[in-house]
Amino acid sequence: MMKILIASHNVHKIKEFMQIFESTPIHLVSLKELNDHDEVEETENTFTKNAILKAKYFAKKYRMPAISDDSGLAVDYLNGRPGVHSKRYAGGNDYDNNVKLLNELKGIENRDAHFMSVVALYYPDCSYKTYQGVVYGTIGHELKQIDAFGYDPIFYPKGYNQSFAELGHLIKNEISHRALALKKVKEDLDEIINHK
Ligand code: IMP
Repeated sequence: MMKILIASHNVHKIKEFMQIFESTPIHLVSLKELNDHDEVEETENTFTKNAILKAKYFAKKYRMPAISDDSGLAVDYLNGRPGVHSKRYAGGNDYDNNVKLLNELKGIENRDAHFMSVVALYYPDCSYKTYQGVVYGTIGHELKQIDAFGYDPIFYPKGYNQSFAELGHLIKNEISHRALALKKVKEDLDEIINHK
């Protein structure tokens, strides 16, 4: 079975990766299993470059293929913000980010937004491939289920009248930006397994 390292410490992302790759011939290894606490600083200004940065670091360190996700939320009214700065938008935690966004959209009718994910798969031979996924939706007016990941409590995917947080992982892992990017990875499974 081929082993690929998940280049992330984010427990929500790791869970999503594991669920999506269940019953494939790929065994995903987490940094936790390796007792690795290294943080890769996201110094780039695009999701793609940051995703490559993270996967490259761990692929080189462990000489094994590594997979990463760099993702974020882009709000139309805010000209694409928070974008690559989604994680630390308010300088605090996920709850603070949600509150800041809701305040910025107070009284605003156009609440269109999308989540974007770029997944990078980086091999020890320095070759790599990136995969993108996007999910469109709207920002709600209040927080639903505050203990959920990131902006899940306030993001309503198109066609649903519940937030990502309320929809739960079964639906989220079918339609989310990261799920869509990872589905593209799965389409490349033969190529990945046979990578020399
Ligand atoms: P990254 O670790 O730099 O990719 O941070 C991505 C940030 O974007 C997260 O910390 C969240 O704030 C946000 N984000 C990305 N994907 C999701 C998601 O699926 N749900 C909610 N928020 C997300």
